Amino acid sequence: MSKKIILDCDPGHDDAVAIMLAAASKEIEILGITCVGGNVGLDNTLDNALKVCTLIERTDIKIYSGARKPIHYDLFTAEYVHGKTGLDKKGEPLSVKPDYKIQQQNAIDFIIETCHSATEQIYLCPTGPLTNIAVSLQKDPSIKEKIKEIIFMGGAAMCLGNTTPSAEFNIYVDPHAANIVLDSGIPLTMMGLDVTHQVNVNRNVINSMEENNNKSSKFFAELMEFYTIFHKNLYETEETPLHDPCVIAYLLDPSIFSGKLVNVKVEENSELTRGETVVDWLGVTSREPNCFVMDKADDKKFFKLLKNKFSILP
Ligand code: RIB
Ligand code: CA
Repeated sequence: MSKKIILDCDPGHDDAVAIMLAAASKEIEILGITCVGGNVGLDNTLDNALKVCTLIERTDIKIYSGARKPIHYDLFTAEYVHGKTGLDKKGEPLSVKPDYKIQQQNAIDFIIETCHSATEQIYLCPTGPLTNIAVSLQKDPSIKEKIKEIIFMGGAAMCLGNTTPSAEFNIYVDPHAANIVLDSGIPLTMMGLDVTHQVNVNRNVINSMEENNNKSSKFFAELMEFYTIFHKNLYETEETPLHDPCVIAYLLDPSIFSGKLVNVKVEENSELTRGETVVDWLGVTSREPNCFVMDKADDKKFFKLLKNKFSILP
């Protein structure tokens, strides 16, 4: 039985890889892709989702437009990582199949309607700011019983932030949304920087992927060539964390990761620590555990899975 998911994302190089990994996996049924403003503005994240699905010949996947900005804050974007379009790369420019358009229905109504009409519980897989998920829960809290688990890329439990010293990008952008999700009572799994920095792309990974000798793997290589620039400069290393595909890899093979059920809350207002995921790893507070936080990843299993799945793509 395949796992039914809504992939909520802000493509973004690593979101693009997450879309392709999900699309390549028969164990997963993508009920829809919802886009949010994050790495770049919403118009570009939507366009990038159309381009990725066109490239992998999956224009059957419906794409929905979500929040342009966080619940309270102005949108903070990351062109400094992903380039002006959000999917900058060398090589042939990407195109969108002429009749492949964004759905009329907005993402929030799609999420709510899909939850209510689902015959079995579904997975929400956000890999961008959590605004769409939070607004859906606010608009119709009753969808909670139709959500099996929210597996999100975001946060940093015991490592540095990547946007401020204490905050990871997705949570920094919309900390209010993050707390709405964390307070929801829905089973949550956090793929934070603690694990995403254990699955790093490097030259060997790119060369190995190119052995697949198909356009999707070539596209992966082109994306990574650009995506590694920022990380090489910031972290002074040849290794680049592949954040968002961890969400899908966990769905496909949970044994790749391990972690702990703990309490997580997010700082919303402090100028110094806005977006910090305060993770009670040692249980020193009386706060109830609300999130399974991953802190270990097996990168060999991860990249073996990624390469195998990409070999199935066009
Ligand atoms: O901090 C990394 C996360 O922020 C990733 O999801 C990346 O795509 C950006 O959204
Ligand atoms: Ca993302």
